[in-house]
Amino acid sequence: MNKLNVPGPKAQAILERDQKAISSSYPRAYPFVMDHGKGVEVWDVDGNRFLDMMAGIAVISTGHAHPRVVKAVQDAAEKFMHISSDFYHEGWVNLSEKLDQIAPFKEPAKVFLGNSGTEAVEAAIKLAKYKTQRQNFIAFTGAFHGRTMGAVSFTASKSTYHHGFYPLMPGVTHVPYPNEYRPVLARRAGEDYGETCVRFIEEEVFARNVPGEDVAGIIIEPIQGEGGYLVPPDGFFPALRALCDKYGILLIVDEVQSGVGRTGKWWAVEHWGVEPDIVASAKGIASGIPLGACIARESVMTWPKGAHGNTYGGNPIACAASLATLKLVEERYLANAVEVGQYLIDALEEIQARHPSMGAVRGKGLMVGVEFVKDKNTKEPGDEIRNAVERNAFEHGLLALGCGKSTIRFAPPLCIERKDVDEGLEIFEAAVAMSEKSHGLK
Ligand SMILES: Cc1ncc(COP(=O)(O)O)c(C=O)c1O
Repeated sequence: MNKLNVPGPKAQAILERDQKAISSSYPRAYPFVMDHGKGVEVWDVDGNRFLDMMAGIAVISTGHAHPRVVKAVQDAAEKFMHISSDFYHEGWVNLSEKLDQIAPFKEPAKVFLGNSGTEAVEAAIKLAKYKTQRQNFIAFTGAFHGRTMGAVSFTASKSTYHHGFYPLMPGVTHVPYPNEYRPVLARRAGEDYGETCVRFIEEEVFARNVPGEDVAGIIIEPIQGEGGYLVPPDGFFPALRALCDKYGILLIVDEVQSGVGRTGKWWAVEHWGVEPDIVASAKGIASGIPLGACIARESVMTWPKGAHGNTYGGNPIACAASLATLKLVEERYLANAVEVGQYLIDALEEIQARHPSMGAVRGKGLMVGVEFVKDKNTKEPGDEIRNAVERNAFEHGLLALGCGKSTIRFAPPLCIERKDVDEGLEIFEAAVAMSEKSHGLK
């Protein structure tokens, strides 16, 4: 396996210029300087080839430069690039109708479009406040919902997102995410850990602190992304829906990372047969063209003219890219995510059996995480090993990305094939072996 010379000379020169000109706030992972990509392959400016198993953080759902998405963007750009949300155009209606068709609830949907995940979440928060005329929200530890002042108040994956930015939006209470690998609550006999977490909300938060009747919404990532690719136990969502129904609370699912086919269903929440009231989507929805969508039941999205809006909402290029993306996902990539996703999980479990640092393999479809530990019995987080794996993988031609304290996430383009998984995991296992060796683990 060849070690690449990264960052190479051209990349190095760009990194130096970048450091001078670009905000120091961006959370750069490692020095990959992109030149171009095709499908699941990308090349840096020095001509090094990489297999991309993170897809720009789960964004490039149809693969880099899919010809049908490129054509849709070109055709739309030639007609008009902008008209503003004060006016109308058919592509915007087409996309909203399509999102209504695939929304994870039976009731007809209405759609608000913005440019990012954080804007989709902002719209969801404002809508929930407006609809219920309540002020409070429940969110979960480890959550990532974005970085604008509203959305960042719900984010709780790293305190750096809050440091220096107080006061945040008031009225947000965080409760434990149902992380079965690292439970923090005591489970009652016969209880699923997901049910335990919901019981905690009612018994400890509603009964002692924030009355359930004053809560507008509960916002949750159906599979937690940035927080570590965590899959809740099966009892969680049915119990959460029942709790929301009991107190008249809106269930808001943040599907920015987990949605649009990534987990083998249009929306991850569908794995548990539960219907939310509001869905926030972005990332994979338009294959890389900025687009965020807040999709709500029509009985919920009742706010009047002027209550919320933006300049770029319904941008024609973004709508065209999204329609082309959704068509491709529907035609082939949903099924591919199921099939190749299972192949990826099975292969990772095989690798896990050979490596003491791989504490857990989890996920659904092509949203898969590997949590690293110092010891499989104590489960002490292996953050340094994880960081070494990420770096070693990069240096040998694989783009993967950390999340949580000690997890590597695999979120490849949904067009990935078995042969690509084989190639990527060969590099991954070599990277794990190297990292274990350098940390005295083998
Ligand atoms: C679940 C989730 N919600 C919201 C966001 C924010 O999206 P954006 O970065 O497009 O604002 C992200 C981004 O990683 C996310 O993963």
